Order: sequence, then structure tokens, then C-alpha cells
Amino acid sequence: MMNAYRAAPDVDVVTSTATITGFGNLAINAFVIHAAEPVLVDTGAVRESDDFIAALRTVIDPADLCWIWLTHTDFDHIGSLQRLLDENERLQVITSFLGVGIMSLAAPLPMDRVYLVNPGQTVDVGDRTLTAVRPPAFDNPITTGLRDERSGIFFSSDCFGALLDEVPENAEDLSDEQLRQGQVFWATVDSSWLHNVDRAMFASELERIRRLEPTMILSSHLPAATGSSLERLLDALAEVPDASPFVGPDQAALEQMLAGITGLAS
Ligand SMILES: [Fe+2]
Ligand SMILES: [Fe+2]
Repeated sequence: MMNAYRAAPDVDVVTSTATITGFGNLAINAFVIHAAEPVLVDTGAVRESDDFIAALRTVIDPADLCWIWLTHTDFDHIGSLQRLLDENERLQVITSFLGVGIMSLAAPLPMDRVYLVNPGQTVDVGDRTLTAVRPPAFDNPITTGLRDERSGIFFSSDCFGALLDEVPENAEDLSDEQLRQGQVFWATVDSSWLHNVDRAMFASELERIRRLEPTMILSSHLPAATGSSLERLLDALAEVPDASPFVGPDQAALEQMLAGITGLAS
């Protein structure tokens, strides 16, 4: 079930919730920046493309989009990419060189329709500049977040996501403990390499985000968060290197689950 809501005067969120049985609920967000040259940040999940396009249409005519900022190429971010490119011939895709490379193995991006960015580089979208920012946590080396220099909003891709019992519309509606637990768990799943980082180096990465002074943090996997939540978000992420590593269910656990479902447990 997809829906859309307004997070800031010129930013809409197109969102659905994925239920991961036994672990919680995860928001899957894409964003429309209503710039002079409108930008769609990511394109929803592959299996939800029809619903995604319908929800997107409630906030913008896809024919009016000029840019797709593809933060990375995971299945929860590229769902309607090809379809939107097919339907709107002027749409260009902002991504990294690696993003183009990975897409070439599935649905190649036409090279005259890509705009390559590296962290620190900017794109002019008419009434504002977007700056590419590497978030401090990610699950894919393609990952390129962005800062909207007009609104001050940081679009953080998978970073700051949280697995939650319920997904509210605003992160402020989560208690400190709900947010902390959900965020730490998500990051141990999605960025398990954080257990191996140099702690001082990671702290300086978090400080780099603090210095951006974002007015909002819009994660692909968290309800919209205002800048006042930044310290809670950074504090939770700082705990991840020393949190318990995630270990997924193994075959014995799977067989136990299946036996429970079919009633064949001995
Ligand atoms: Fe991802
Ligand atoms: Fe994601």
C-alpha cells in the first residue's frame, strides 16, 4: 500500500511499508523535490511499480520530472526507473559511475541521459543546487545521498533507516528508545561492516554530517525527521559498531518455522 505525504514546503514523500516477518516494518521512501527542474529521488520497489506510479501521480505528473537522483541501485530504489525513463524522454538520471556500471547488467542507462556525480560535486536544478553527499552508513558502494542547498534537507539514502513496530509519518512521533532500537537493528543488518570500523574515524564521519546542519533528514527507510532529530539519529548510529551483530535465521530455524506454519512439527 503506497501513499504520499508532504514533508516540507517543496518536498513530498512517496512511501510504502515493507513487513519483514519477525523483525518489524520498514518504510520504503522516494521523494519529489519540486524544484524549477523537478527531481525524483529514487523510484520505489520493483514489485510495487504500478502502485508507486499511481502514488507519484498524486503529487506530480511524471511527465514534468526533469531528473531522477538514483541514490543506489538496490531493488527498493530502482522499481520504476526504466518505466519513467521510457515514458519521459527528457528525464536524466543522476548517479555515480558505479551506478551506471551495475545498471548495465540489468537495464542499461543511455549514456546521454546520465549525469555522473561524486561526493562534493553539485547539480544545478534551476532554482537550487544539489550537492552529492556520501552518507556515513550504506549497503552499496554506489550510494550517493544529497543535500538540497536551498532547503537544507539531507537525503541520506539507506542511512538512518529503522526497523519499527509501526511506521509513523514523522520520526518525532517515535520515542527515543523506539528510534534507537529500530535504527541500531537496521544498521547492523544493512551496514554490518560498521562493526569493523575504526571508532575515531567513524565519529569523524558522523561529525561531517552534523556540520551539514540539515533542516530535515529524509532517509529512504525512516519517516521524515526534522533537524531537531539529528542528534538522536547520530547517537543511535554511533552505537552500531559495538552493537550485537545481526545473524540471520539458519536452515534449522527455517525448517522450524515451516513446520510451525504447516502444523507438521514433531
Ligand atoms: Fe540499499
Ligand atoms: Fe534501501
